[in-house]
Amino acid sequence: MTATELRLRTFDRIVFFTGAGMSAESGVPTYRGKGGIWREYDFERYACQAAFDRDPDAVWEFHNFRRGLVAACDPNDGHRLIAELEAHRSNTCVITQNIDGLHQLAGSEQVTELHGSLWRCRCDQCGAHHTARENPKAPIHCECGAYWRPDIVWFGDQLESSNLDAAVAAMKACDLFVSVGTSGVVFPAADLPLVAKKNGATLIEINPDVTPISEVYDVCLRGTASAMLATLAGD
Ligand code: OAD
Repeated sequence: MTATELRLRTFDRIVFFTGAGMSAESGVPTYRGKGGIWREYDFERYACQAAFDRDPDAVWEFHNFRRGLVAACDPNDGHRLIAELEAHRSNTCVITQNIDGLHQLAGSEQVTELHGSLWRCRCDQCGAHHTARENPKAPIHCECGAYWRPDIVWFGDQLESSNLDAAVAAMKACDLFVSVGTSGVVFPAADLPLVAKKNGATLIEINPDVTPISEVYDVCLRGTASAMLATLAGD
């Protein structure tokens, strides 16, 4: 099958599985490529529970920096195309590894944030969530006495089981799975394409580069998210 033979409108239940490359054209840095977050910042100092326990201010500062980067970015044409498709086809959903909220800003409503959100905090001790887009500038204590922490899946954290369940259910239900801009090296997210494949979906990978799981896909579109999504949409 070639890209020109494939058109999004010929499928009923589409899952967009997105990673940092989805937001790259918006100006949000990816994690592992040139200028990637983990090339410049050591996750053991800024993105794990042990780091937060050791130095909550440094971890908070890192997340303030990341919130600042994302706040300056707008959804790109790819985000908008997915949102428009969802508006016309209720069976479309987004399973994203991104924490930037750009799918929702573009208008997508069926979004599962596998790795959490930059725009939420939570208290692990009492389970409270804080959903304001304006986060406190420094770590603050919850009413129960523990610190709020960013509601993000850090290294070593488990995914929230309801999110993983929702993602697996979407994989089992979809007839088209479109991966956009992920390196496919972070688990368990990287296993999700296999679930969709096992359940008979057609799999498309959109990524300028080959990934470790490219061979799983039926079609690989080598280009940027917005350009390749437009090709698939037939624009
Ligand atoms: P990565 O930085 O690992 O990979 C980004 C992918 O996007 C790469 O394969 C690029 O080739 C591709 N890419 C770059 N520009 C693109 C563009 N314009 N259009 C399409 N693709 C493009 O990011 P993720 O795969 O999202 O987790 O990383 C997965 C997880 O690792 C993240 O959710 C994050 C990180 O640690 C947490 O923080 C919990």
